[in-house]
Amino acid sequence: MGYTGPLADKDRIFTNVYGFQSPDLKAAQARGDWDNTKALMALGQDKIIDEIKASGLRGRGGAGFPTGMKWSFMPKEPKPGKPNFLVINADESEPGSCKDREILRHDPHKLVEGALIAGFAMRARAAYVYVRGEFIEEAAALERAVKEAYGAGLLGKNAAGSGYDYDLFVHRGAGAYICGEETAMLESLEGKMGRPRLKPPFPAGAGLYGCPTTVNNVESIAVVPTILRRGASWFAGFGNPKNEGTKLFQISGHVNTPCVVEETMSISFRELIERHAGGIRGGWDNLLAVIPGGSSVPLVPAAEIMDAPMDFDGLKALGSGLGTAAIIVMDKSTDIVRAISRISYFYKHESCGQCTPCREGTGWMWRIMERLREGEASVDMIDRLHDVTKQVEGHTICALGDAAAWPIQGLIRHFRPELERRIAERNGGGMLEAAE
Ligand code: NAI
Ligand code: SF4
Repeated sequence: MGYTGPLADKDRIFTNVYGFQSPDLKAAQARGDWDNTKALMALGQDKIIDEIKASGLRGRGGAGFPTGMKWSFMPKEPKPGKPNFLVINADESEPGSCKDREILRHDPHKLVEGALIAGFAMRARAAYVYVRGEFIEEAAALERAVKEAYGAGLLGKNAAGSGYDYDLFVHRGAGAYICGEETAMLESLEGKMGRPRLKPPFPAGAGLYGCPTTVNNVESIAVVPTILRRGASWFAGFGNPKNEGTKLFQISGHVNTPCVVEETMSISFRELIERHAGGIRGGWDNLLAVIPGGSSVPLVPAAEIMDAPMDFDGLKALGSGLGTAAIIVMDKSTDIVRAISRISYFYKHESCGQCTPCREGTGWMWRIMERLREGEASVDMIDRLHDVTKQVEGHTICALGDAAAWPIQGLIRHFRPELERRIAERNGGGMLEAAE
């Protein structure tokens, strides 16, 4: 079991997350970035992958897939005409998520250096960073950092003096949430409509232009140089088993001081909020529920979340998930049915429409949610809604279908009495049993 208390300043990876210092190359180098990168690459490709595996790093984009294992799926000897590629997912669009934008704005060199080392380890010829369309400032900051890196010989031919040739391209998205799904992102990069592909094949088998590709989140790549410099065991020394490392948490909603902060994995919810977010608005007794991992995961009621470890497995045990660690705090002033209905609308709006359960189901779910919000429904409609979520969950091409179903399932699981209360109130105290 690793350390799960508060993170000491000396152990922070993202030392410029608030932008108090310049994001430029000189300032980044003063913070330790690009410090003898050549020596890190001299460890060799297999050793780098082994170190990342040993660090316990799990993908920071939401799914938590082991990063080193993902890299090891890439061919060690790319076939002629089929180069390996690294694609970095900077299409951060999950409601509540706002960590990658801080890296792009304030610490872009961590990402650029990480892209070189990770790409080298997986024998990639080049990396593409797919930046969310709305991230104008962020894309400009990243482009400046890439230009500086090329100017200093850190990218391009003989990158960082390593003898390895490596390019990095910045690609701007156009504002579609679905392009954050890894295979939709590959389609979009290829100039097609951003629609998810069926998996398998996974991108390591057939990715960008049909070539072996690894898609990683911005934070997953940006932590790589520090892990290699400080050692896998240092990173693995934080957090509960299989949930190791430090993590950027994004705390929004009804706290006194919303923030993005790097903390130890598995820190308790209460400690995280007290230490960094100034506590719950109106005090802890005023807490209603929390969505702990971005809008795709089910909410957790106050009593269950208080002492929960903020990590993948701890939150899974509560029927929710860490996702991107975008924590949305809701106090008792929240209309919880309206909040979840709004999330339903978001998924209905963002569905690419390619598969029927998602295209039709997201519309159905949102419309029933709106009726429940008004109380203009019968009690059996709650069960019917639950049935619809079950018909969508697991029956779609990509995870958007699940993401639309889970928040509603969480609402019904934990707040059914509130749904029934609204129906009773609307019907003058009684409840309509029949539909319509
Ligand atoms: P996933 O679990 O299908 O895959 C995760 C990663 O592991 C992918 O890169 C996939 O290619 C790889 N993988 C999984 N099984 C594999 C296998 N057998 N062989 C080879 N590779 C394998 O999850 P997905 O759909 O990539 O991501 C869903 C998550 O994304 C959700 O948990 C959600 O929290 C998060 N999300 C994040 C957003 C953001 O703005 N950061 C936006 C929307 C969703
Ligand atoms: Fe498109 Fe939804 Fe199907 Fe994903 S689940 S491919 S978003 S229709």
